[in-house]
Amino acid sequence: MKIFSAVRPTGGIHIGNYLGAINQWISLQENNDCYFAIADLHAITTPYDQNTLKDKIFELAVTYLSLGIDPQKCAFFIQSKVREHTELAWLIGTIVPVGELQRMTQFKDKATQHKEYVNAGLLNYPILMAADILLYKSGGVPVGKDQKQHVEFARNAAEKFNKQFGECFPIPEPLIEEKQANIMSLKDPSKKMSKSGDQKGCINIFEEDDSIRKKIMSAETDTGSEIKYDLENKKGISNLLSIYSAFSKIEIPLIEKKYEGKKYAEFKSDLADLLISKLSEFKEKRYSYYKNPDLVYNMLEKGAEKARIEAKKTIEEVKQKMGL
Ligand code: TYM
Repeated sequence: MKIFSAVRPTGGIHIGNYLGAINQWISLQENNDCYFAIADLHAITTPYDQNTLKDKIFELAVTYLSLGIDPQKCAFFIQSKVREHTELAWLIGTIVPVGELQRMTQFKDKATQHKEYVNAGLLNYPILMAADILLYKSGGVPVGKDQKQHVEFARNAAEKFNKQFGECFPIPEPLIEEKQANIMSLKDPSKKMSKSGDQKGCINIFEEDDSIRKKIMSAETDTGSEIKYDLENKKGISNLLSIYSAFSKIEIPLIEKKYEGKKYAEFKSDLADLLISKLSEFKEKRYSYYKNPDLVYNMLEKGAEKARIEAKKTIEEVKQKMGL
């Protein structure tokens, strides 16, 4: 199957991004035709610093590689280097209703968060995302739960295009790992873990060991003392159990059993040890890529070359079908 996904270079990758998306990419790249991009054109729809954007793109490329993205097995590239993304976005933009864009949850959230910067790009964000996905005729889109609505938008756009202009796009499925698709903030487990939220609630994939321990030990838990998965009444502990389960690959009921009668502090301390040990592998790899920027840029360019071949074919077909 063809697969597309991306992350915005807006700051470090946190364990939510990793568990919700990139962790899935690593297994998908083994048996699928995968395209994994750095969504720089999406990153500029919210306030950003043009002097540091390039560093953030490089940092994200190093992160992908450190987490296990293998450029031999997929096309790994910077979105803006394949100009067909914006070309297809324009074409798709002419067939989707504005009302649908205005109803998108992320648009409403971001427009409230950055009142001074509600630009047309932010409104059109889902169109570019649909173009990213459809450009490669992707059948699957591995994402966290917060992106489900955007993938549904891409599905609608594909259906509409096929109906109006003739069969062209497969209808893409969101690939969501239910248990890890919605990692919540450690400080406020009713909100998702996010780069722009409270930093105490967010663990970066390259976070220092001491800081990981501090954040886990002070994570919000609930009254009561039982270590039990209960999303209604015990959001904090349920979130920590999901993180534990995702990193240890042990099912939640077995973890609950292991900690029966034990205190939150003991469970948290073990979770901190687990995270520190799992994330240490990534830190070592990161260092080796950092020392070798030419290698990283070379991989990105090769990935873009590969992506362009598919992208050009789709654009030709779409233009011809649209009568251009
Ligand atoms: P971004 O950069 O906000 O997030 C990257 C990926 O991480 C997932 N994610 C989470 N998963 C679980 N728990 C969380 N707390 C959490 N926070 C973030 C997101 O669901 C996402 O999968 N619009 C996209 C980037 C993009 C894209 C695309 C994705 C651009 N074009 C085409 C798929 C297909 C975004 O904002 O990701």
